[in-house]
Amino acid sequence: LQENAKEEITSVDSMENLEKIRVKYLGKKGELTEVLRGMGSLSPEERPKIGKVANEVREMVESLLEEAKKAMKSKALEQQLEKEAIDITMPGKDVRLGKKHPLTQSMDELKNIFIGMGFKVAEGPEVETVYYNFDALNAAANHPSRDMSDTFYINKDVILRTQTSPVQVRVMERVKPPIRIISPGRCFRNDTPDATHSPMFHQLEGLVIDKGITLADLKGTLEVFAKEFLGSHTEIKFRPHYFPFTEPSAEVDASCFKCGGDGCSFCKGSGWIELLGAGMVHPNVLRNCGIDPEIYSGFAFGMGIDRLTMLKYGIDDIRLFFENDLRFLKQF
Ligand code: PHE
Repeated sequence: LQENAKEEITSVDSMENLEKIRVKYLGKKGELTEVLRGMGSLSPEERPKIGKVANEVREMVESLLEEAKKAMKSKALEQQLEKEAIDITMPGKDVRLGKKHPLTQSMDELKNIFIGMGFKVAEGPEVETVYYNFDALNAAANHPSRDMSDTFYINKDVILRTQTSPVQVRVMERVKPPIRIISPGRCFRNDTPDATHSPMFHQLEGLVIDKGITLADLKGTLEVFAKEFLGSHTEIKFRPHYFPFTEPSAEVDASCFKCGGDGCSFCKGSGWIELLGAGMVHPNVLRNCGIDPEIYSGFAFGMGIDRLTMLKYGIDDIRLFFENDLRFLKQF
């Protein structure tokens, strides 16, 4: 029986036939199964002997079947590989990779710089209320920026935000100090588009509130930011300014005269360029948000992402960002 099985298995030519052989010997009505079934009618002396032999034969047949199966599989694989051989001399497919928009790249870079200093990213709505965009930020009732000619009104209480500063208020209302957030996003102003104006543009807001925060903390934070974003030689300078929601307020400029070759080509090595607006959060704003200005103080800043990106890459027209011309976008 073993010999027969061996011969049949070694000459088998397909998986189906191999299965037939298995059934023939080991199946329910298989030859070996019959033998094992007939054991009951054997004498007690014969039973263990025959049983042993029968089991050996079964093991043998099983392992022969297993081997034949393996051999057949690997042969099939080989044949398949031969048939499907890859022609490595064929020309490849042209894979075109997309790129991040230069503004997105800037935003990612800015986020990384501030996240590195321990800031969290906060978000606020682009369709904002007059309360959050102006009133809570201490803007006088007759402040010119409230005018229809500057701000897009949805109705008398609802506008498209003109700055990211309302996110300051939303965060302070919700979060107890210490607060350390940045908030990048779209802003809208009723401006006629030209090389330096777009009715939709981007700002990045920063806000820090804690006990004992001073102007020195603001200066240190912005200095680290400027050196990382514009190059390690960069110096910054504070110019007095006015914002309703900060006191004192400043416009902050970056130096362009000390170019060491790491990234200040944008201002051609001369003078100062305006970077951003900043200041110490006005006590009225803190009070509007339920924070006691006798206990807490803080600073805020806001920068134009489009403007900074234009400076950094030497782009001379803000409208290029929003035309989606691939010849422009591909350069970054
Ligand atoms: N929101 C101001 C602007 O749009 C910038 C700013 C933000 C100034 C925070 C001071 C503090 O010009």
